[in-house]
Amino acid sequence: MLCLKCKTNSKWIENAKQNLIDVIIDHAHCEKKAAVTGMNLINNYPEKTDLAFEMADLIEEEIDHFRSVVKILDEKGETLREDKKDEYAQKLFGRLRKTQPERFLDHLLVAGIVEARSCERLQILADNLEDQKLKLFYTELAKSEAGHYMAFIKLAKKYFDEAEVKLRLDELTDIEAEIVKNLTNLPMMHG
Ligand SMILES: [Fe+2]
Ligand SMILES: [Fe+2]
Repeated sequence: MLCLKCKTNSKWIENAKQNLIDVIIDHAHCEKKAAVTGMNLINNYPEKTDLAFEMADLIEEEIDHFRSVVKILDEKGETLREDKKDEYAQKLFGRLRKTQPERFLDHLLVAGIVEARSCERLQILADNLEDQKLKLFYTELAKSEAGHYMAFIKLAKKYFDEAEVKLRLDELTDIEAEIVKNLTNLPMMHG
């Protein structure tokens, strides 16, 4: 879906279903980290007003998602636990080029790709879980993350030439697909 070049391995959902609380805890941390990504972009590029407005909206939505996920945990008698290392995101953010303005473009595109992968995984959860409340919740969230993917691509096209955006998105989605193929299907959002 969206820009992604490989599908999630079917073993991931099997593991996720068997360790659902671990996935929900990790998901809460992912929502928190998505808000942090928005903050980092504002911090790094404070003079870009369109970016500031778009990230302000995104941060609000991600914090809202975070609150909803923590509420689900609380209703299940669970709490957040430590934020485990997200190797997928670390590897992908590790591919940002060092020089500007290339780094800014990569930051927007990688943030967008992570949203796209999160959207795919949320939809897989929605399609495979039996709990109706969770199914509905993940369906709604998948739509929201798809919107965030679009927002990042739109921003990239606002600040960069469309052909350059397309070319780099193509390169970064190749890299992302390689990372995903080597994941070990841990019960995490990007496991
Ligand atoms: Fe979110
Ligand atoms: Fe998002």
